[in-house]
Amino acid sequence: MEEFQVKDKTLAPQGHLQIEWASAHMPVLNQIKRRFSKEKPLNGLTLGACLHVTKETAVLVDTLMAGGAKVALCGSNPLSTQDDVTAALAEKGVHVFAQRGQTTEEYYWCIDKVLDYKPLITLDDGADLVGTLHSKRAEELANVKGGTEETTTGVIRLRAMEKAGNLKYPIIAVNDAYTKYLFDNRYGTGQSTIDGILRATNTLLAGKTFVICGYGWCARGIAMRAQGMGANVIVTEVSPLRALEAAMNGLRVMPIAEAAARGDIFVTATGDINIIRKEHMQKMKDGAIIANSGHFNVEISLKDLEDLSTAKRTMRPNLEEYTLKDGRKLYLLSEGRLVNLAAAEGHPSEVMDMSFANQALCVEYLTKTAKMPPKVYTVPKDIDETVAELKLKAMGVKIDELTPEQKKYLATWEMGTI
Ligand SMILES: NC(=O)c1ccc[n+]([C@@H]2O[C@H](COP(=O)([O-])OP(=O)(O)OC[C@H]3O[C@@H](n4cnc5c(N)ncnc54)[C@H](O)[C@@H]3O)[C@@H](O)[C@H]2O)c1
Repeated sequence: MEEFQVKDKTLAPQGHLQIEWASAHMPVLNQIKRRFSKEKPLNGLTLGACLHVTKETAVLVDTLMAGGAKVALCGSNPLSTQDDVTAALAEKGVHVFAQRGQTTEEYYWCIDKVLDYKPLITLDDGADLVGTLHSKRAEELANVKGGTEETTTGVIRLRAMEKAGNLKYPIIAVNDAYTKYLFDNRYGTGQSTIDGILRATNTLLAGKTFVICGYGWCARGIAMRAQGMGANVIVTEVSPLRALEAAMNGLRVMPIAEAAARGDIFVTATGDINIIRKEHMQKMKDGAIIANSGHFNVEISLKDLEDLSTAKRTMRPNLEEYTLKDGRKLYLLSEGRLVNLAAAEGHPSEVMDMSFANQALCVEYLTKTAKMPPKVYTVPKDIDETVAELKLKAMGVKIDELTPEQKKYLATWEMGTI
């Protein structure tokens, strides 16, 4: 069997340095790696992973291999793979099939290569690997004991599969751990989305009108950081609760149909489809910049943008200029794929430290536990708390402990006003 397929093996030395840099900022995962090296909880097991192939993912793979696992890995997006990292991973003996800038066909070919290794546990980001296994290779489902899912969109797809009675093995929703979404989705996406926009455009945010579609965990982070750099932020939402929260956080909230004419920069982060469409593009200012940070490239209607345009030019890497029939120009970043990974490097290592610590501990949990019914599970609370404790320790932050009196007080109901 083919052992790996990467873009350029000579990029390995740079990849090793990148992984070393990430690892130096991932103390929780390193602590788990040290324990895994001694205890070998994954000895002889094959894991199949479909994750953004970044330097941080490489540190997760190192950790799983330290635990004794064999790892087959492909990318979870055609435009997010870091080619120097794949070269280094291939040298480390990882069965890696990933390359930046793939066609959809090549992307699914890589998923198939990973599945050829017959993984016992799957690690997914967006549920494309799980979807392929359930639809095209259903006869192999019996080999799989369980899986993990990294992102909101993947969890939504898996819950839909569970509801329809189609999910055939248990999957832990890593995304829904407190130590994941509160930090990765909020601070990770917040910072790295701004990073992606700046690397692609080098535009000034101060004084700009910055429209964010959605006010979920990712969008909250993006709003916070855009505001911090002096942008005037407008939020569009469909949830009254989240719209209310945005309004009380001092942001302007309005429908996208109204925001379209006001924005200088637009970012979608909803996990939903066709948020920015033809009727919105028709109202946009000349020079407006449009980007997406949600999982799939479906949030901005690329078809509508193409239909409205008479010409298209690549101005810089990850920056496409579309000239509309009336002469206005709109700028699309990273083909509408998640801008933080396609135009920048994804979340900072410090954040992925927690997300991937949850991944490593959940994989260990799945291998140790008797096979569970095929449902979507939340991350066990003790894993979530362990990750928080280890992170605090690494940050040198100490906290209080409940006194016996406080424990008793919190467990009783008799004491009221005194
Ligand atoms: N770029 C990254 O690195 C990264 C990281 C984590 C998650 N994600 C992805 O980002 C997306 C959002 O994740 P999240 O955790 O913030 O989800 P979330 O569920 O917390 O938030 C999504 C928000 O979008 C809103 N929404 C849905 N349809 C809308 C519409 N038509 N108009 C306006 N708002 C709408 C929802 O009401 C909700 O508040 C998902 O696709 C997720 O997988 C990306």
